[in-house]
Amino acid sequence: MGKDVIVACDFESAEKTVAFLSLFKGRKPFVKIGMELFYAEGPSIVREIKARGHRIFLDLKLHDIPNTVKKAMMVLRNLDVDMCNVHAGGGSAMMRGALEGLTRPDGTRPLLIAVTQLTSTDQETLENDLLIKMPMADVVSHYARKAKEAGLDGVVCSPLEAKDVHGNCGSSFLTVTPGVRFADGSAGDQKRIMTPADAKKAGSDYIVVGRPITAAADPVAAYERCVNDFVD
Ligand code: C5P
Repeated sequence: MGKDVIVACDFESAEKTVAFLSLFKGRKPFVKIGMELFYAEGPSIVREIKARGHRIFLDLKLHDIPNTVKKAMMVLRNLDVDMCNVHAGGGSAMMRGALEGLTRPDGTRPLLIAVTQLTSTDQETLENDLLIKMPMADVVSHYARKAKEAGLDGVVCSPLEAKDVHGNCGSSFLTVTPGVRFADGSAGDQKRIMTPADAKKAGSDYIVVGRPITAAADPVAAYERCVNDFVD
């Protein structure tokens, strides 16, 4: 698994998504399909983007009882995506169920990663809304260890926590990190952020970048800037 930039295609329609991806001409960025696009267009958008030659991270963040998540993953495993995810907060049995459901009869499966804490959550939200009275870094490390024990391939976390996660779970345990902003860009609703260059130094395996690319005046140039700062 090489380092890569994953572009969060948070659009409300297939039409807008395809128009956006067409800007990239011959390039085939790794694409993230999240709730907005998947709920608007359903599985057909996954097939369409796959047919255009992109790798796909299907970011639906499943979080339910183990049996429901397992059954949902048995459906998603037929979509031929490269990566999908659950919330680690659903617990170990749920993560094991997800892995079981995602594994095809021939033993193959997409990568499965777990969201530790959303990058829009800060220490205050963690303590006062979620009633988790512990430092964010410890909470993320604990959730990452639980995901590893359950057999998952990695976690979604902030680039600020990538080093700790690798320290606790090993360097081959993937860190997929949203909350990436250029130094001269706006944070929006993200609270735990880093630049692509700093995410590289912190050891992130993949950065997930949405608005800094999708809302840029020149999205292809913004993507190239991320690749130059993070990968090259
Ligand atoms: O536009 P922006 O760069 O903030 O997009 C980040 C993307 O990563 C969004 O699609 C968001 O849903 C997703 N994400 C996140 N934090 C997580 C998990 C996923 O921001 N912990």
